[in-house]
Formats: sequence, structure tokens, C-alpha cells
Amino acid sequence: MLPQLNSLKNLRSRIKDKLRIHTPKLCSLSSSFIVHWPIYRIDIGGSSSKKMEKGFTLWFTGLSGAGKSTLSAVIEQELRERGHKVEVLDGDVVRTNLSKGLGFSKEDRDTNIRRIGFVCHLLSRNGVVAISAAISPYREIRDEVRKTIGDFVEVFVKCPLEVCIERDVKGLYAKAIAGEIPVFTGVSDPYEEPLNPEVVIDSSVETIEESAKKILTKLEELGYILKKSQNYCF
Ligand code: ADX
Repeated sequence: MLPQLNSLKNLRSRIKDKLRIHTPKLCSLSSSFIVHWPIYRIDIGGSSSKKMEKGFTLWFTGLSGAGKSTLSAVIEQELRERGHKVEVLDGDVVRTNLSKGLGFSKEDRDTNIRRIGFVCHLLSRNGVVAISAAISPYREIRDEVRKTIGDFVEVFVKCPLEVCIERDVKGLYAKAIAGEIPVFTGVSDPYEEPLNPEVVIDSSVETIEESAKKILTKLEELGYILKKSQNYCF
């Protein structure tokens, strides 16, 4: 037997011994084995987990009150539990710092989205899952950001305007309808639906759990995250 192969086998069995203390079964994959813990991972010789450490951008788009922030928080939590590094750029939060001072004209919204896209790009290329939760009403800018980032998954959080108006969590729709807020998305300003989003959520009929599952399943299908059973493969 080749000395290299021998030492690899020794290494495997030493790690197996160590892990047996914590876990009943070691997940073994043909020429390599990979052990995924929720917080850290050990990867020896294989390449399949490399992709899992690749960052990507999960881009939520939809009307105010559609459920982008709620869903992004659920996905953030789930991905963290699966061992990913995650950052959320929420429209309301970004507008208090990175985009402070910007208004809601088309120009300002485009600037806001380009800034969020820029940060998502930096994060994604450094192995982080960047989640954007901004209305991002204009298709052209969303597509521009998609092109720049590459690893981009668009989630259209669809919700009929009437339902958003009914929810009116922040009381902004009432003001917009009363004419107190000019250029309010969906009321007096356009929202351009995505033509080919990777995921479409209808938050007026789905539960949060159903929507979250839909997103996670798509991310698994696209190979950005491991299936839960693969992730916890003991
Ligand atoms: S975006 O159009 O530039 O993507 P962003 O997501 O950052 O918007 O901010 C939207 C949030 O700002 C809404 O959820 C709402 O709370 C608030 N807001 C205040 N004024 C407006 C407006 N005119 N149109 C839309 N949202 C507004």
C-alpha cells in the first residue's frame, strides 16, 4: 500500500475514534469523508463541501408589508443553525445607516439598491450568505445586481396590495392613501414584479414555515446549501 494512502487511513481512523465519543456514525463519502457540524466542519480530501462554503446572495423583493423581513429573519436563523455565515441587509435598517439621507425617488431607490447589491457582492464572494430584504421595486436594477453578483437567488414575496394595506403594520399605507406620503410603492409608485425569480412566495396564503421550506428546498436544489440530513449526517 502507498505510504500516503496509509497515512490517510491512519488519519481517518484517528478522527473516527475522536468523533465516536460524540456521535454514533461517521458520514463517509467514497474517496473522502466530510463531517458537518452545525457550527464547524471538517473536510479531508473531498471537494463537495467546498461549494457549501461558497457565499451567495438571497434577494427578497416585494411590497412593503409583504413579509420580506420576517422571512429573511427565519432563513437567517435556519442557515446559521446549519453552519453558514449570514448577514441580513434589511431595507429599513440600511436606510438608517448605509443609505441614510436617501429618499424614495427612482434615483434614490436605485442608489439604495446598488449600495445593498455592492455589500451583498462583497459578502457573497467571501463565503457569506448575504440576504437582502428591500422592496427593490425596479426590475432593471435587480437584474443589474444579479449580473454583478452571479450567485444570486431571487425570492419574490408576492402579496396582494389589499392584504398589505389591511396589514399596514407601520401605518404607512393609510398615510399613503391619504396622500400624506407621496410616491409610495404599490399606491402611487410602481412595483415591477420579477419575470423569472427562483422562488415565488405568496405570503397571503402560505404559512411562514411553508414559505421558508420552499426557499430552503430551492437553495438545496441549487446546491448552495446541504440538505439537512446531509448536514447532520451522523
Ligand atoms: S426601496 O424601494 O429602496 O427598496 P426600502 O426597502 O429600502 O425601499 O425601504 C422601504 C421601507 O421604507 C418600507 O418598508 C417602508 O417602511 C418605508 N417607506 C417609507 N416611505 C416609503 C415609500 N414612499 N415607499 C416605500 N416604502 C417607504
